[in-house]
Amino acid sequence: MAELISSFPAISDLRAKARRRLPLFAREFMEAGTGLDHAVERNAADLAGVQLSPRAMRGPVTRDLSTSFLGQDFSVPFGIAPVGGTGMIWPGGEKVLAGIAAESNLPYTLASVATQTPETIGPIARGRGWFQFYPMADKEIQKDVLSRAHGAGFETLVVTVDVPMMSRRERQMRAGFQMPPRLTPRMLLQALLHPSWTRAVLQVGRPELATLTPYFADVAAAERMAEIGRQLHPEPAWSEVECIRAIWPGKIILKGIMQCDDARMAVAEGADAIWVSNHGGRQLDAAPSSISVLPGIRGAVGKDFPIIFDSGVRSGLDIARGLASGADFVMLGRPFLYALAAGGHDTAQLCVRILRDELENVMAQVGAERPADLPLALVKPKGTEIAQVA
Ligand SMILES: Cc1cc2nc3c(=O)[nH]c(=O)nc-3n(C[C@H](O)[C@H](O)[C@H](O)COP(=O)(O)O)c2cc1C
Repeated sequence: MAELISSFPAISDLRAKARRRLPLFAREFMEAGTGLDHAVERNAADLAGVQLSPRAMRGPVTRDLSTSFLGQDFSVPFGIAPVGGTGMIWPGGEKVLAGIAAESNLPYTLASVATQTPETIGPIARGRGWFQFYPMADKEIQKDVLSRAHGAGFETLVVTVDVPMMSRRERQMRAGFQMPPRLTPRMLLQALLHPSWTRAVLQVGRPELATLTPYFADVAAAERMAEIGRQLHPEPAWSEVECIRAIWPGKIILKGIMQCDDARMAVAEGADAIWVSNHGGRQLDAAPSSISVLPGIRGAVGKDFPIIFDSGVRSGLDIARGLASGADFVMLGRPFLYALAAGGHDTAQLCVRILRDELENVMAQVGAERPADLPLALVKPKGTEIAQVA
């Protein structure tokens, strides 16, 4: 680990390695936002603008990063966001990340459009697995998928509500990305130029949407993805929460809330938590950064309602920024893909180590003993502080 950390001291180093190892279509799938990537850029720029105030002379402080969220105790206040098609980035990637989550005692969210099933991942995650779900048009399939996930040991359901329609991911289109991958001459050339990725794929087999594909076995292979896409994004209404609540016995988190009114509705409809996210800038290029809406949403739902935050987080410092701005828990998507593609299990483990070390270091700089102390360190934007009388 010591040797690895000197090669990859930060997430940006893992990203650089991942970009070299992946063929273009997989790289663009991992990195793409939508449109001109303005929302991706805003996520990064606005996070960088969040300032924390250093504290001096606090004496020796015992720091404790452990955090309880929705009744579960985790060793750190961060975890792994759902990524559909993770097996495209690194074959068997979902298994690696679920194992890291279990070892590190942090949550791993398995996407319903992952390349591994809940039955495979549940036992590996050992209670740290959350299951991500898109409301489906066919309610019989919906019921079956949810009952499979719960039966496989997933007790927390993440319902993603910010994909009323698949967005246009132009970078992916230009790179010729398709799921499942089809061997065109262009993809073959890219694969040959990236032998370590190709070797790994050949060992595991072609990635498929393992959980959902069996329901569409009688649809012609060429039509199957389009049919799954139609099933997954039927533009749900708020009544969907009640419908899912009737069949899901565990906690429900709504992912993709970006507005105070929607946050209040989520509370009123009985969600157990909300997940403030602009989907890593992948849905609406005009969306505000999720860090910029987080303090307002915290104000709208009150200080005790559980909030998760993601989009643009690339360091332990960014995790601290999210926690200081009103989140109880922070999730990361692409950083764990960079880590997987950079070197599989060991670099994924290193990713957790980097984020943890950075977060602990930031907590030391600002005199925070626990993640919940971080809001005290937030430097409020000018004009919002109460004037000091000399
Ligand atoms: C390649 C890729 C695939 C994703 N697939 C899903 C998905 O299937 N379901 C979902 O709710 N979010 C999905 N997301 C969004 C992530 O869960 C998360 O919200 C986002 O990546 C956070 O931004 P970050 O990548 O900047 O950390 C995906 C993100 C990426 C990069």
